[in-house]
Amino acid sequence: MSLLTVTLSVTLLLLVLTEAWAQNPRKRLAPPKPPKAQCCDEVRSLKLQVANLTSLLEELGRKQETDLMNVVRQMIELDKQNRQQESRVTEAESKYSEINNRVEIMQLQAAQSVTQTTSDAIYDCASLYTKNYKISGEYKLPADDFLGTPEIDVFCDMESNGGGWTLIQRRKVGLTSFNRDWKQYKNGFGTIRGDFWLGNENIFRLTRQPSILRIEMEDWEGQTRYAEYSYFTVKNELNSYKLFIANYSGNAGDSLRYHNNTNFSTKGKDNDKCVDDCASLRKGGYWYNCCTDSNLNGVFYRYGDHSKSTDGINWYGWHGPNYSLKRVEMKIRPQNFQP
Ligand SMILES: *[C@@H]1O[C@H](CO)[C@@H](O)[C@H](O)[C@H]1NC(C)=O
Ligand SMILES: *[C@@H]1O[C@H](CO)[C@@H](O)[C@H](O)[C@H]1NC(C)=O
Ligand SMILES: *[C@@H]1O[C@H](CO)[C@@H](O)[C@H](O)[C@H]1NC(C)=O
Ligand SMILES: *[C@@H]1O[C@H](CO)[C@@H](O)[C@H](O)[C@H]1NC(C)=O
Ligand SMILES: *[C@@H]1O[C@H](CO)[C@@H](O)[C@H](O)[C@H]1NC(C)=O
Repeated sequence: MSLLTVTLSVTLLLLVLTEAWAQNPRKRLAPPKPPKAQCCDEVRSLKLQVANLTSLLEELGRKQETDLMNVVRQMIELDKQNRQQESRVTEAESKYSEINNRVEIMQLQAAQSVTQTTSDAIYDCASLYTKNYKISGEYKLPADDFLGTPEIDVFCDMESNGGGWTLIQRRKVGLTSFNRDWKQYKNGFGTIRGDFWLGNENIFRLTRQPSILRIEMEDWEGQTRYAEYSYFTVKNELNSYKLFIANYSGNAGDSLRYHNNTNFSTKGKDNDKCVDDCASLRKGGYWYNCCTDSNLNGVFYRYGDHSKSTDGINWYGWHGPNYSLKRVEMKIRPQNFQP
């Protein structure tokens, strides 16, 4: 803009000078009538023209300036609009992510409130199974307020018959004595990968949810049989961990039925329905009636010795009262479990 101003100014100056120069010889040649007045009139007119042109130029310059200013202003305006739009987009984005966050939190809360009452709390092997733990082995169950269970180590059978089974008893090695007192049967004993009793207190708490009991047995010939009860629970310690079972199925015979509705007895705690002390006769802890139709916590007898005594691990419905089994597993699972 300033270059244009200069150019125009220079052109104008040249124009004025040229005209002044061109008139001079004429003035000299012409007779001097009123030389001073003429000269001054012309100068005045030139001056006016110059002033006019100058003002025109200034006007033009001003116009240009304002045009440029307008352009700049427009650009600033556009920039502003752009920025406003940008901020609006950012605002929208942050609002979107905020809403998204809130939705996620709500989904989480909904999931938690569902899981707290149903499937997500871990209180047995079945809940671990539904959380995709599908390999059989030792697991640690966290303490659970709903069932009132402390933290316990368990063995989960995640493979047989749909999995989700919590073992409550196993006999297979034969080096752990099961001839133990009330307190030991209450709290459990043995090794979770070998022979053990999970503990009456744990069994009581785990079976507060309607549960299935499955008993798997193996004899010294390698044959296997099972007995299943679609309902299994024990009462609390005040009620001597009394047994309740219902709805037998299986191929080993219903040899726990005889023990239905009886209290648990151990060495030093005779709660059976006999004048005899069944626990000392059968050398275990069990729901002794008078005394047995099965004795799964009896003495482990090895092959050769397994058919000589009545205090062995027996199941009358399969091998009668004098046959001690090679292997037994008692396992539980909630009735509503779906593999
Ligand atoms: C100066 O410009 C005005 C209009 O802008 C015009 O009326 C006037 O005649 C001009 N004077 C000269 C000396 O050109
Ligand atoms: C079982 O135990 C309860 C208390 O623990 C007792 O009241 C009841 O008489 C016992 N039942 C038998 C058959 O011993
Ligand atoms: C165990 O006893 C209850 C009654 O207390 C009965 O309903 C149930 O069917 C019995 N279980 C078996 C396997 O007979
Ligand atoms: C035993 O099974 C029958 C028929 O399926 C059922 O109606 C009954 O409720 C079951 N009993 C128990 C104690 O679960
Ligand atoms: C079991 O053994 C006892 C003696 O220990 C014997 O009197 C009884 O006949 C045996 N029972 C069977 C079914 O073999």
